[in-house]
Amino acid sequence: MSKALDGVRILDFTHVQSGPTCTQLLAWFGADVIKVEKAGEGDATRGQLRDIPDVDSLYFTMLNHNKRSITLDTKNPKGKEVLNTLIKTCDVLVENFAPGALDRMGYTWERIQELNPRMIVASVKGFGPGPYEDCKVYENVAQCAGGAASTTGFDDGPPVVTGAQIGDSGTGVHLALGIVSALYQRNSTGRGQKVLASMQDAVLNLCRVKLRDQQRLDRTQVLKEYPQYPDGKFGDAVPRAGNASGGGQPGWILKCKGWETDPNAYIYFITQAPVWGAICKVIGQEDWITDPDYASPTARLPRLKAIFDRIEQWTMSKTKFEAMDILNKFDIPCGPILSMKEIAQEPSLRETGTVVEVDHPTRGKYLSVGNPIKLSDSPTEVLRSPLLGEHTEEVLKQLGYREDQIHELRAAKVI
Ligand code: COA
Repeated sequence: MSKALDGVRILDFTHVQSGPTCTQLLAWFGADVIKVEKAGEGDATRGQLRDIPDVDSLYFTMLNHNKRSITLDTKNPKGKEVLNTLIKTCDVLVENFAPGALDRMGYTWERIQELNPRMIVASVKGFGPGPYEDCKVYENVAQCAGGAASTTGFDDGPPVVTGAQIGDSGTGVHLALGIVSALYQRNSTGRGQKVLASMQDAVLNLCRVKLRDQQRLDRTQVLKEYPQYPDGKFGDAVPRAGNASGGGQPGWILKCKGWETDPNAYIYFITQAPVWGAICKVIGQEDWITDPDYASPTARLPRLKAIFDRIEQWTMSKTKFEAMDILNKFDIPCGPILSMKEIAQEPSLRETGTVVEVDHPTRGKYLSVGNPIKLSDSPTEVLRSPLLGEHTEEVLKQLGYREDQIHELRAAKVI
């Protein structure tokens, strides 16, 4: 079956996590992704957080499926000749070097356009134009600068970063959308363009609801769905809301049977208004259905803590999965707190290809997260990540290089 991005060729200059997330998605949709790595070294993540000596790390293998790898010293004049040919034959160059690195290499936007006016140049940077544009940035810096850390955690504790890699992988997903949009526009303009996704911007986009709440707070000095209401104090910035849902339907994380020994024996419970009656029946508190202090969402807001304490008495008598079964029968929105161990073993995620087992020549079998976006006419087959420089000869031959030329480049350590 054909793939959505068949025929699109990507010059992949990405490393670490944000850029590789983007190009992996494009590869899963069928693009030919040629990852260009420093000769002899490769993407730094190949050697980071290794669990098996001398074997590409899971960090690398899980972010670079379905790509081809070539090694190339792009600072060497001979290497630049190869790179020029690649630029002429690719549709998109994706990079997430530190600010200015591509220019220092000699590949300004103008130079790339000279070589290939149809080329789309897509970049992840830590910050967009402004005071921090020259800064190097990693995941947690973006979470802090994009508003996630100040709004995550509990009121009486410090800012907290989240385990979801919203700065790196989150930005990679944003960049991928920018790239396919630019490819689409190129159909009518015939021209390439620059695509920029800054990590601060992407995190802020994902924290959009918190900027909503900032403005609500500015206007009314209170956020009634937040745990600080009604007894705590509000300052002038959106506070950390613990496990509050933050939306119009109050929610909280509640203990389930076994919580004393299992750190994940919890359930997220949402007191959605339309099923309030069902919630009261399930927990055996039917008087709350008509009691004016509890009958309406507005009446419940100042009593949320007491309400969740009462619901928790019920959830603590059930395992999280028993609670799920019962609550789902009544359409009460809830979700078990799943550990990574449970997710790794979950059969339904294996069946949909969201969790996949991949075989690797030096590592053996490992688990990975497959393509979370399913296209009915472009199914994803997850293929193992390439070894360093595994496709150098193959790609050079496709570009028209002869055996002896390849031999020369190898002898000069350009590839
Ligand atoms: N051949 C020769 N040189 C190469 C090369 C190749 N194939 N590929 C890269 N290089 C060079 C670059 O030109 C650069 O050289 P320069 O500093 O002399 O100009 C150098 O390798 C290193 O690049 P850099 O991006 O600065 O790596 P770093 O390890 O110092 O920094 C980051 C890493 C992630 C902090 C930085 O790349 C960054 O801020 N990126 C943008 C934001 C981002 O994506 N962050 C999240 C990463 S998950």
